[in-house]
Amino acid sequence: MAISIEKFQEQGGRVQTDDLDFESFRTNPLHPDVLRCLGYMHDIEYQTVLYMRELLVTPAWKDPQFTAFLTLWNYEEYWHGQALGRVLAMHDRPAHDPRLHAMRKWNKRTLFWSPLVFWSLGTAVKKFPAVHMTWGAINEWTANAAYNRLAKIADHPVLTELLGRIMRQEGRHAAYYASYSRDMLENDRRAQKVTSWFLRHEWAVVGSGDVPKIETSFAAAYLFGSGDGAELIDRVEDRIDALPGLSGLNLVRTAIREATEHVIAEEGSVPGLPEPASVAS
Ligand SMILES: [Fe+2]
Ligand SMILES: [Fe+2]
Repeated sequence: MAISIEKFQEQGGRVQTDDLDFESFRTNPLHPDVLRCLGYMHDIEYQTVLYMRELLVTPAWKDPQFTAFLTLWNYEEYWHGQALGRVLAMHDRPAHDPRLHAMRKWNKRTLFWSPLVFWSLGTAVKKFPAVHMTWGAINEWTANAAYNRLAKIADHPVLTELLGRIMRQEGRHAAYYASYSRDMLENDRRAQKVTSWFLRHEWAVVGSGDVPKIETSFAAAYLFGSGDGAELIDRVEDRIDALPGLSGLNLVRTAIREATEHVIAEEGSVPGLPEPASVAS
């Protein structure tokens, strides 16, 4: 049963940060690799509004429950970006608008055409809502896992608290998307086939295409390339497998392996991972 917007909005809103001591990052700064991941996450969170721009040109605009969800979801993701930007700024790293201007300029050709692509897919592909609801669930599950893992790697009290709060909201987003995905896929062989096709052929780690590929690869490999990170991804895969008609896709695991290979090819190694020779074997 899909989650109603009344239920979804119960614990939502702007992520609370007023009580967090951002100044502590000045005396107890984060590791550059952690900051690199936070930069990627900042970009993706702020990118949500442009993803909403794409979804709104699909026939999903007709459903007031879904447009209400998009409004609240986009608002919450905006504040995630804002909070992560404050962490970056405390380390004198680019954040907020200057960073976003550069990103949109870098990506302007794709962003120019993407609403047309979504309009076409939404119009031509009858089961497209099942695709984007499932896509959303996978990305939110992965976001939740990413924050969980980054908090453990960074081991910084203020960051752990902030990411814990963000994670709780990502969990609500995932539950909402997944409830719709399950409803749309259940007993609908066609929706399952179309969704499975799009995931197998088009799905990539969130941010692919929005930021330079190496940044997405770095975050994926650094967070999930081994140990506890790989276990978190096993759980995401279990959740995808449990969706009607989508078992055995192995999407995220495959993407992480490719990301790890990409970082090793470009940069020689992934911090925290065994030497390249043993990763490749
Ligand atoms: Fe978020
Ligand atoms: Fe989210």
